[in-house]
Amino acid sequence: MIFDDLRAIQLRHGFLPKAELEALSSRTQTPLYQIHSVASFYPHFYLAPPARARLSVCADMSCHLNGAFELRADLERRLGQAQQGEVEIRDVSCLGRCDQAPAMALNDHIFTGITAERGEALVRRALSGEEFDDDRPGNGRVACASDPYPDGENYGALRALVAARDFEAVLTRLKEAELRGMGGAGFPTAMKWDLVRKQPAGEKYVVCNADESEPGTIKDRFIMTHLPHLLVEGMILAGLVTGARQGILYIRHEYHLQEEILGEEIRRAYRSGLLGRNILGSGLDFELRIFVSPGGYICGEESALIEAIEGHRAEPRNKPPFPGVVGLWQKPTVINNVETFIHVPQILVRGVDWYKAAGRNGSRGWKFVGVSGHCAKPGVYEVPMGITMRELLADYAGGVRGGRALKAFAPSGPSSGYLPAALVEVRLDFKALAEAGSMLGSGAIVVCDDTTCMLDMALNAVRFYRNESCGKCVPCRVGSQKMVDLLLRWTQGGLPEAQFRADLSLLEELSFAMSQASICGLGQIAPAPIQSVLKHFRAEVDAHVLQGKCPSGICFTPAARAGEANRVGIRP
Ligand SMILES: Cc1cc2nc3c(=O)[nH]c(=O)nc-3n(C[C@H](O)[C@H](O)[C@H](O)COP(=O)(O)O)c2cc1C
Ligand code: SF4
Repeated sequence: MIFDDLRAIQLRHGFLPKAELEALSSRTQTPLYQIHSVASFYPHFYLAPPARARLSVCADMSCHLNGAFELRADLERRLGQAQQGEVEIRDVSCLGRCDQAPAMALNDHIFTGITAERGEALVRRALSGEEFDDDRPGNGRVACASDPYPDGENYGALRALVAARDFEAVLTRLKEAELRGMGGAGFPTAMKWDLVRKQPAGEKYVVCNADESEPGTIKDRFIMTHLPHLLVEGMILAGLVTGARQGILYIRHEYHLQEEILGEEIRRAYRSGLLGRNILGSGLDFELRIFVSPGGYICGEESALIEAIEGHRAEPRNKPPFPGVVGLWQKPTVINNVETFIHVPQILVRGVDWYKAAGRNGSRGWKFVGVSGHCAKPGVYEVPMGITMRELLADYAGGVRGGRALKAFAPSGPSSGYLPAALVEVRLDFKALAEAGSMLGSGAIVVCDDTTCMLDMALNAVRFYRNESCGKCVPCRVGSQKMVDLLLRWTQGGLPEAQFRADLSLLEELSFAMSQASICGLGQIAPAPIQSVLKHFRAEVDAHVLQGKCPSGICFTPAARAGEANRVGIRP
């Protein structure tokens, strides 16, 4: 449990002093280089004393669309005097508050809807030694159409299962409902659970992936806030069906409120005999605990997440074998997304027909989506699968902010690339979005109005991947930096046509190499944003590169030039 030790040291000193790491090494008989390699990997550990005010403004997609770079530049100006070792302004990746952008972290607390005035005031409070807490939206119960327990009589599916003990029937119903993973890849859930169930009896694990770190992805935060009982129940059901007796809920570091809510729900479940040994007198056991991520988008990749739980650097494993066969501690492991788990009790209580009928236009079930960027009502919405993007934006998200025209949207954060407004009739569905050259992914819809520069958005997305690449494999580590360099050059314009053609073919080659040779999905998908912009917004790219013009007036301005360093950022 190296992270517990490292956290305890950091709590005492504010960072990880060398002498303490040496003492930890001899106490635990772990080579110092191993401890150092872990501590230096994760963004939430500091190897040197940090400044008294550590400020990071998120600059990923939704915050970027809401003025993050201007905010950061303004804060740097205002705090210039105080910066002498007292204030440190650093890069940070998406903080998971895309609906309340722009967001910033100050000494590991998160603040949303930030203005330069408020940011400055918070930093001055931190410098005066004042203690404060995150901005916390209320967590009162929200009625979700798909909650099968509107009267609070929770855990009905679990009670029914321990009474009937028909575990195969659960798999049959999940298969009939055609439930697919909601974490991004859309893998059939029944197939995953069946694989683990069929592994020889013995130690097995259930892991919930609540890492949620991709820009635009905020739905799991909402679900954990408002439907924690469904998540806990879904994990217990997975344990009973697959024969796993241990569950781990892996939650991102920045979700303090949700960690508290789930901790309370788990304790309540233990008190009610729904968790632990001999569940409801059935003779069946399932233990569940929370693991707080030491940080980083790559921790959401399932095999990297396993490595993190095991106390290593979160570097993805080569696959196969898949976690269903060789997972946590080398044992068969079910890993599912938060939303996938909560669909299970819904299907079991309300029935397959109810679930299927919820979808529209031939699609099945419900989908939680996060909508952010330039929309009037950013937030998380529970919508029937299969509605069109136009319906979603107009009927739920209030349309484009300020009555402006829609220019583009990302159906699922940077991974999905950008689709043009002309495709707004596309349905929210695995197949329909794949046919449109995009993906349903984790349902992180980012809206761009007609003032948006799409080349700038492609650069913003690849910058995120470059920052978050774990560095294990060359195509991704070097390729993502190359891509940032290329796109930055394009936003600066004035290239001879021959050079641009050479850049384009280099980009093609790079994209191919990354998609084929990267170990995990991060490197494989990193080319998607610029590929989509070249496909749908080619004239805009040409205008930048060949004519030195940004049709949206974002690039080539004095502000863009002055903020170049922040725009590209540095690999943290
Ligand atoms: C770089 C990267 C980050 C990911 N982050 C998450 C995440 O935060 N949450 C998640 O559920 N899945 C994430 N995934 C997908 C997981 O690897 C895995 O497919 C998923 O947790 C399986 O659950 P599901 O079948 O319920 O979708 C990520 C994948 C990659 C490549
Ligand atoms: S593709 Fe990128 S993130 Fe994935 S293992 Fe390779 S370097 Fe790490």
